[in-house]
Amino acid sequence: NKDYDLSTPIDPNNSVGGLRQNLTSYGDAHFSLFMRKLFIKAMGYSEDALSRPIIGIVNTYSSFNPCHANMPQLMDAVKRGVQLNGGLAIDFPTISLHESFASPTSMYLRNLMSMDTEEMILAQPVDAVVLIGGCDKTTPAQLMGGISANKPIIHLVTGPMMPGSFQGTRVGACTDCRNNWAKFRAGTLDMEDMAALNEELAPTSGTCGVMGTASTMACLLVALGLMPLSLPSATAPAVSSARLRVAEHTGALAVQLSQSQLKPQDLLTCESFLNAITVLQAIGGSTNAIVHLMAIINRHPSLAGTISLKTIDDIGRKTPLLVDLKPSGNNYMTDFHNAGGMLALLHQLRPLLHLDALTVTGRTLGEELDSIPFRPLPSGTELGQIIHPLSSPLYPSSSLIVFDPSISNLCPLGGAVIKASASKYRRLLQHRGQAVVFHGPADLARRIDSPDLNVTPDSVLILQHIGPVGLHSPGMPEAGMIPIPRKLALQGVEDMLRISDGRMSGTAGGTIVLHVSPEAADPESVLGVVRDGDWVVCDVEGRRLNVALSGEEIEKRKRERREGMKKGFSKEEEEKGNWQKREGMRGYRGLYMREVNQADEGADFGFLTAAGPKGKGKGEV
Ligand code: FES
Ligand code: MG
Repeated sequence: NKDYDLSTPIDPNNSVGGLRQNLTSYGDAHFSLFMRKLFIKAMGYSEDALSRPIIGIVNTYSSFNPCHANMPQLMDAVKRGVQLNGGLAIDFPTISLHESFASPTSMYLRNLMSMDTEEMILAQPVDAVVLIGGCDKTTPAQLMGGISANKPIIHLVTGPMMPGSFQGTRVGACTDCRNNWAKFRAGTLDMEDMAALNEELAPTSGTCGVMGTASTMACLLVALGLMPLSLPSATAPAVSSARLRVAEHTGALAVQLSQSQLKPQDLLTCESFLNAITVLQAIGGSTNAIVHLMAIINRHPSLAGTISLKTIDDIGRKTPLLVDLKPSGNNYMTDFHNAGGMLALLHQLRPLLHLDALTVTGRTLGEELDSIPFRPLPSGTELGQIIHPLSSPLYPSSSLIVFDPSISNLCPLGGAVIKASASKYRRLLQHRGQAVVFHGPADLARRIDSPDLNVTPDSVLILQHIGPVGLHSPGMPEAGMIPIPRKLALQGVEDMLRISDGRMSGTAGGTIVLHVSPEAADPESVLGVVRDGDWVVCDVEGRRLNVALSGEEIEKRKRERREGMKKGFSKEEEEKGNWQKREGMRGYRGLYMREVNQADEGADFGFLTAAGPKGKGKGEV
């Protein structure tokens, strides 16, 4: 056995070759290999098995994560694909994040999951890695970690859940969770209805069944070339046999990747991301995907800083909304799947795409589209309405809009985002109204339903302190869809202009401005000094978001806020100034509070970005 031939050096730079990858030799490479082999043999592997390329499979199963409940079956199928093609499949765990079981917010933990993913890929002798994720924050965390680790990766998502049924209508998490909760608040559904609905909103395992963040990220992974086009890798339902075939095929492709050694920093180019942004606009994707995309791009050494929120807005102006799914439209992921899914969509979008971008197969997107037979649905069929042709879009352009920070005094640093296509009352996209300000989620909960709240349907609801640093819940809680004050909801008001520095669920809709930067917790924030009664002007067409205050008045208020902080403040003021306490905080919380950057940069940690720690700093005192 050559492995112990001391006269043949083991190449310390050898990155391929399974266990022969010399990751930790500490000076005696042969002994180190001897040790790796003897320990892994305790798992029962033979010399033959150990001579194969090793395909790592990232297992993000957790009994707290129903979106990943099919993980065991998927891993089996991936392993079959790996082993039928001559590789050795070895799975290993990383943390798992579910939206509802990740306090204070799943976004707070996304960067932790990305660090876990990156370090475990680097620590272990894998030749290629299958990243299995699905729930909202998991796929971006895995891609962030994967790009930084820069070993060959391929993604596999768990797939969307099926819709359920309530009072004769299809329902699905979680657009219908929110719609129906609003109806309950308005008194049109009762407690028994809500109990029945609770049984049906997530009727199978899998990710939310609308175009929320999980589905959006799955579609973007195909557009980026990181999941195959030849099978319905983004849309096959979690509980379908197609999903298992996607998994098997992913295993086969991973073996191919272990040989080609096509690494994410080479596979992903500027064009790959422009394609992803085009798809994001065409599917009316989640606003969260914008934050994730910026974080992902800023992990890439040669792309960091080259694509900004403005790029997303510019592409939006040229890209119509084609896919009719909730929350922008009416249907569910299963419909998109049955209508042809991403393959059908990319064929429609072909004139807008960069066809020479690479994919995991080693072929370009254009070559893939040319080689995979595709037949459009017969016209006139029910599902023919799900993916619109470019010639008759669902919404003409700019599903997702970015306010221009240079002409918007409310978000003067990094802008803000709105999903215009999900606005319920389109007149609110050009609107002037008086601010009703809430100083954080607790204040909101205390006052939003008060009969004394001074609010009209034309008021602008403002929620401060739900940004990346935030107040009590760091990580931009999905509280940006501020509920309609009960007294207005009872009058039938279903939409109002709402503005915050937080996020909203990708499954939510309404006229909602998000990700305002700098966030209210930042001493330079303008959002942080807006007061009740200030006039707010939202001009989506002109990309302007302003508060009608003079520059002097804004500076005066900022100064007062800063001085208040130095002098010692009221309890509420003290809470608002919590960024001043960042330095003394321990643990991950302290790391997060000190290092997180703003939403327009991806809410990543500065030291994890390709630019390094100097890349951060908008939120510092
Ligand atoms: Fe996991 Fe919606 S909660 S995708
Ligand atoms: Mg979500």
